[in-house]
Amino acid sequence: MSIATRTRTPPVVLGIETSCDETAAALVDGERRVLAEALFSQEDHHAPFGGVVPEIAARAHVEILDRLIARVMAEAGLRFDQLAGIAATAGPGLIGGLIVGLVTAKAICAVHRLPLLAINHLEGHALTARLTDAIDFPYLLLLISGGHCQVLGVDGVGRYRRLGTTLDDALGEAFDKAAKMLGLGFPGGPAVERAARTGDPDRFPLPRPLLGQPGCHFSFSGLKTALRQTVERLGPAALEPPTLNDLCAGFQAAAGDILVDRTRRAAALFRQHHPGANTLVVAGGVAANAALRARLADLAAGQDFRLIIPPPALCTDNGVMIAWAGLERLALGLTDDLAAPARARWPLDPAAEPAVGAGNKA
Ligand code: KG4
Ligand code: ZN
Repeated sequence: MSIATRTRTPPVVLGIETSCDETAAALVDGERRVLAEALFSQEDHHAPFGGVVPEIAARAHVEILDRLIARVMAEAGLRFDQLAGIAATAGPGLIGGLIVGLVTAKAICAVHRLPLLAINHLEGHALTARLTDAIDFPYLLLLISGGHCQVLGVDGVGRYRRLGTTLDDALGEAFDKAAKMLGLGFPGGPAVERAARTGDPDRFPLPRPLLGQPGCHFSFSGLKTALRQTVERLGPAALEPPTLNDLCAGFQAAAGDILVDRTRRAAALFRQHHPGANTLVVAGGVAANAALRARLADLAAGQDFRLIIPPPALCTDNGVMIAWAGLERLALGLTDDLAAPARARWPLDPAAEPAVGAGNKA
């Protein structure tokens, strides 16, 4: 029996995500239906260390991935030979985890003679809004997560133009570091947002690096350092409300100003190439922050952009976005060889100049 006759219509792709501290598997079909999904967050494994420990992450992926895949297959009532392909994140990310997911996908592909789709994790985030909202190309994408902080023009599948990236920390990373200095635990973003709700953002004015500067790059290290110096100056009072809340509010307000300023510039640049473009997509874990969402909603409204933010579970790392990116690539015949390598670094836009001092993965 040929692959074409035994696979399901519409095609179903299994997506596997292991690039950081989430182990995830999902089955999605070509009609935008999520047939099954499973996710194991390793947060508890890493919390004692205040950040993700690569070796611990890789081991945890090995221990659980098989079971997650078996669970989604059973839930959807499918056999591997009924799938149209297997998609796995091949980069960028922590190399140990990437290898676990990619090798697992290759093994299933080899046994069942299925096409492999080696997915760029950032492409997964970039295309999610086409699954949730069926939007057309082109659109502007602001990707703000723990590992990435970029603004990209998305012209088509595999066609990305990076307009700006961070010169130092990713925004989620800056939130996590701020939380750590304030004794708020890991991951820090949600805790900082919670504390900021009742805080006074003007009590401790913090710097907004690159604000008003040419270009669309981001920088958060000056903000982080200023927060650290303020915390040291204040002593133990910094770790207790109301001072704690005021510091969080000040930090979040500064982050919001930076985001809005850089995204506004990127939107103008994007429109030079696509005068009719009117869609702004925000993705990544930081997109869960309601205060930042509100700031971006104001920006979008003022610029005549429609703002699309996928639901939080699809903004953070997940298997659904990898399966969907796999379906998009499969539809275009963009399958990969079983020799496809795992890549710790893998820029979405290979033509983009490395940002000076960039510490980010792409
Ligand atoms: O996309 P994600 O789940 O994983 C990465 O690919 O990094 O993003 C996780 C990041 C963490 O840094 C976390 O602190 C941040 O997103 N985050 C938030 C919020 N929720 C998650 N940052 C600010 N405010 C939030 N509510
Ligand atoms: Zn991610």
